[in-house]
Amino acid sequence: MKTVNLLAYLGVGAAAFSAHVSRQDAVNCPLVSLNATLNVWKSYRLHTNSIYRDQVLAAAEVIKDLALKKKALKVADVGSFLWLSNATHLSQVENAAFGVPCDRIVGLVLHGTKSADCSSRNFNPLGLEAYQKTWVDALATTLKSHPRTAFAIVIEPQALTRLVINADLAACRASAASFRANIAYALKTLNLPNVVLYLDAGHGGSLGWDANNKPAVNEFDAAYKAAGRPSQLRGFGVNIGHWNAWDLSPGEFATTREGQNWAQNEQAWVRLLGGLLGKAGLPNHAVMDTSRNGVLGLRYDWTRWCNVNGAGFGRLPSAEGTGLDLADAFVWAKGGGVSDGTSDAASPNYDAACGGQDAFKPSPGDGEWNQPYFEVLLREARPEIKVED
Ligand SMILES: *[C@@H]1O[C@H](CO)[C@@H](O)[C@H](O)[C@H]1NC(C)=O
Ligand SMILES: *[C@@H]1O[C@H](CO)[C@@H](O)[C@H](O)[C@H]1NC(C)=O
Repeated sequence: MKTVNLLAYLGVGAAAFSAHVSRQDAVNCPLVSLNATLNVWKSYRLHTNSIYRDQVLAAAEVIKDLALKKKALKVADVGSFLWLSNATHLSQVENAAFGVPCDRIVGLVLHGTKSADCSSRNFNPLGLEAYQKTWVDALATTLKSHPRTAFAIVIEPQALTRLVINADLAACRASAASFRANIAYALKTLNLPNVVLYLDAGHGGSLGWDANNKPAVNEFDAAYKAAGRPSQLRGFGVNIGHWNAWDLSPGEFATTREGQNWAQNEQAWVRLLGGLLGKAGLPNHAVMDTSRNGVLGLRYDWTRWCNVNGAGFGRLPSAEGTGLDLADAFVWAKGGGVSDGTSDAASPNYDAACGGQDAFKPSPGDGEWNQPYFEVLLREARPEIKVED
């Protein structure tokens, strides 16, 4: 284990070791064939992501407060998704898939279209051209080399959201066709027997509006059909990397002008979208990210997405307790402690959301570890993280 981790850190090509790793898996588990008409989280537990685990163990190392350190060590063993938004992350999948017990499922968030955010000033249309080969084909090759390991993949946070919400922006209109083709390509190419897929569906605060949820269903439908109705598509992901409540009622923003929205919490969003998708004959089950929604009432409004100050870890990953057949499981899709973006206004990557009064400061760049913020999440976790005395 240690050796493989080290090799990944050194950036040694995973390909050189994949044959060895696959043999390891083959010894332990039968070939995986997931039935996406069923809730796979009833038979598989979310695997501890080895990359996040190493980050958390290093973080625990420097915590002086013994009680807090114990909580950190607890979090190190919680299952979480590996977030793929650059080439380094993609090369880590091999490591994450190493030595996975037969009853565990590896979670991945595919976020290769990050540079294709047509609403951002860092928009890079080239990202769209390279997407299929660099991201999807490369990932599919790795997944195929682990036919005895189960994977759950959330496809492209913000994909549907961007197509619906930014439909008026010229840069988004110009790139929409190619963006749609790429999403369809991902669904089609990653439709493998050992994989179950969820297409990201934003959150109630973005797509829950009457004016947005029908267009979102249309986009979902178009992607599903363009991908040839992939058998492994189970449904959609909600609140991925976000901060919304699961079942708070009335909703966090129900008493503001935001009260016009029928999806005041994510459970309501799953019910609303799941219902519409089901009527349209589409896969309609959901996973919900509860990694950082332990504390509510911290934000100006529910679109605030960056390093929310005072946040805590939320419910642990589980297929139990969602209270809704349409909701397969709570998952930790985001690694709590990993920054959403820099609070440094002088940085070329600065986004105002990361500098607002509801954001934790200082915060390093997107994807970098933020130790003080990780400690806030530990302290504020709801439910509290239980440790033995
Ligand atoms: C998947 O599960 C459903 C529901 O139990 C069943 O009807 C179907 O035959 C299964 N599909 C496969 C390929 O096993
Ligand atoms: C990918 O992002 C991580 C932060 O998550 C960073 O440390 C790494 O250098 C990045 N790799 C590339 C190739 O940009």
